[in-house]
Amino acid sequence: MSKTIIVSNRLPIRIEKEDGKNLYKTSEGGLATGLGSIYKDGDNIWVGWPGISLPEEEEKEVEGELIQRNMRPVFLSEAEVQEFYLGFSNQTLWPAFHYFIHHMRFKDEEWKAYTDANQKFADAVSKWLEPDDVVWIHDYQLMLVPNMLRQKFPNITIGFFQHIPFPSYEVFRMIPWRRKLLNGVLGADYIGFHTYDDMRHFLSSCHRLAGYSYNRNQILVKNRLVEVDSLPMGIDYDKYAQSAKSELAKAKEMAFRNSLGSQDLILSMDRLDYSKGIPGRLKAFDRFLDENPEYIGKVSLFLIVVPSRDRVPSYKALKEKVEFLVGHINGKYATINYVPIRFYYRSYPLDELSAFYRMCRIAMITPKRDGMNLVCKEYIASRENQDGVLILSEMAGAAKELSDAILVNPNDEAEMVESIKRALEMPIKEQQRRMQIMQQTVSKYTIFQWVDLFIGNLRGLKARQEAMA
Ligand code: UDP
Ligand code: G6P
Repeated sequence: MSKTIIVSNRLPIRIEKEDGKNLYKTSEGGLATGLGSIYKDGDNIWVGWPGISLPEEEEKEVEGELIQRNMRPVFLSEAEVQEFYLGFSNQTLWPAFHYFIHHMRFKDEEWKAYTDANQKFADAVSKWLEPDDVVWIHDYQLMLVPNMLRQKFPNITIGFFQHIPFPSYEVFRMIPWRRKLLNGVLGADYIGFHTYDDMRHFLSSCHRLAGYSYNRNQILVKNRLVEVDSLPMGIDYDKYAQSAKSELAKAKEMAFRNSLGSQDLILSMDRLDYSKGIPGRLKAFDRFLDENPEYIGKVSLFLIVVPSRDRVPSYKALKEKVEFLVGHINGKYATINYVPIRFYYRSYPLDELSAFYRMCRIAMITPKRDGMNLVCKEYIASRENQDGVLILSEMAGAAKELSDAILVNPNDEAEMVESIKRALEMPIKEQQRRMQIMQQTVSKYTIFQWVDLFIGNLRGLKARQEAMA
């Protein structure tokens, strides 16, 4: 029986040390939570990094534990974490692909570490690969892996999905190793992006930087037919809907409400990342209270910031900025019984997230740039009574599917301020009309359909390649 090997930098489980013990925790981030439902099927396995550097003697024990759970760990040394993960992946590719070009840096030694680490992942896959398996590689940290495997196993079936935006050729061409990155990805047979624009940008870079001609979404790479496609990722809708309806989520909501009071809550939930536009959202909330003082005491921002990549200087600086803004706004408007911003710097498990999704009548998700954004889809799935308002940035991939949200340009502060007022004052009938449409959209195209479509298209393409040979 053939299996699917999922490959990503981060496994869906991350290990944390507490009192010398290894704790197995669920990873945050759209890729891990999205595919978390899939890899347990049959013989499928997930190859990736468990998020911690461990002494060699502990690696064996952790490997044994993860193998039981269908995972195959790739351990990274502290130097690899520094140069491959915190360095090239998150200080060259991440800022470039999210158009934060002032945060980008180009270091030869980090490129070398990226190449070596990609080889390490490719070698780990080789170890578990059997004929007829499908290899599905994910995201910008592993762009060289498809071609590394193709060189070694010319006929295997390889898919690649990019979970973050693919930038315009004008930005992508700034990266010194741009051709190598493109040729790395083109080792795959089928290449997916969340949006049509990302796909077009990729094709245009392949043409202009690496000399490939393309016909619609097809490229011939050394006589091998490669297809590029846009497939927006969905969520496990029922999981979020059921969890939000559960007695546990309701009880938690009630308990939180008892301590929070009755004011309207606006949910803001992201990893600590400059691409998420957290300071812009805080400034808009400040201006909203300033221009609409009748709302002081009546509405609070429920701000969850999940720690992320906190050894990267730009992330550290962002944390300080957020803390400063929260302190400034709370100092300005708080009273004895009113806290304008409830700020939580940590991550939460699903049952608590469900209580938050229930409890907040508005979700404000305004990234400066985001490949997809799953939090907004989870919020929609969790709205049991079909009320609530989603304020969503046009720059999130999800905005392409969710035109019934209040769509805003995250750089337009006046529009963001206005959107908060509109959301707070939206009649219930209009809330329900919009929410129903969005629930239909998100429930129709779930993570399961997304996986089936990707794997189905990949297998279909492979069959056509074989027929052509
Ligand atoms: N998430 C979580 N715990 C938290 C906050 C967020 O598990 O405390 C999850 C959230 O449910 C979502 C993911 O993290 O599935 C974030 O995915 P998204 O696509 O919105 O953003 P990303 O972090 O991938 O950029
Ligand atoms: C985004 C990326 C993922 C990444 C996640 C969390 O969703 O697309 O590849 O895993 O962020 O980031 P981290 O650096 O903690 O893995």
